[in-house]
Amino acid sequence: MTRWYRERKKDYYYREAKKAGYRARSSFKLIQIQKRYHVLRRDGIFIDLGASPGGWSQVAAKYGKVIAVDIASMAPIENVVFIKGDITSDEIIERIKEHVVMADAVISDASPNISGNYTMDQARSVWLCENALRIAKEFLKPGGNFVCKIFEGEDYPEFFSKVKENFRMVKPHAPQASRKQSSEKYIIAKGFVKRF
Ligand SMILES: C[S@@+](CC[C@H](N)C(=O)[O-])C[C@H]1O[C@@H](n2cnc3c(N)ncnc32)[C@H](O)[C@@H]1O
Repeated sequence: MTRWYRERKKDYYYREAKKAGYRARSSFKLIQIQKRYHVLRRDGIFIDLGASPGGWSQVAAKYGKVIAVDIASMAPIENVVFIKGDITSDEIIERIKEHVVMADAVISDASPNISGNYTMDQARSVWLCENALRIAKEFLKPGGNFVCKIFEGEDYPEFFSKVKENFRMVKPHAPQASRKQSSEKYIIAKGFVKRF
């Protein structure tokens, strides 16, 4: 695919996001995931990790109640409770518990600040995923769903296997709305099974 075509496509999602009132083009990634995998159920409770500026929360809030977490601030959205916090911190579980006991889905689009050193960025991405999985295991109802953005690389297969231990169906997904040159993937995991 030529750079020209890629840029046009980027502009396409950017324009569509603006038109639809979404804060980020990333909203379309969740819309595409939802269309294909039905991870958000009607009237559900969802925990959105790495939520700012709120594109995913806007989509999820159309289905139910959202608890959104990010280290960066986020402007209010109806039906969304925002927690400013670090998903890798010890206290985040207690802070989320102030708002929700159990969730139907935990969705994470959290990404590290890109340093340009791919090995380091990939390791940080997996660290965010490990923490997203920790939060998912704490809050998901039996049968609940988990979506997690991850940069492909050395630690990816091990993390993928770890997710498989707790879910009936686990698949990698590359949304069309991701930039084609991107190495990001989403792990889609359905049917949470609690194991100790
Ligand atoms: C790609 S953006 C998310 C976009 C969002 N899903 C949307 O649709 O608007 C990645 C987010 O991850 C957040 N993030 C990175 N590390 C984090 C951490 N340790 N705890 C919470 N959020 C984190 C960043 O602040 C950033 O807002």
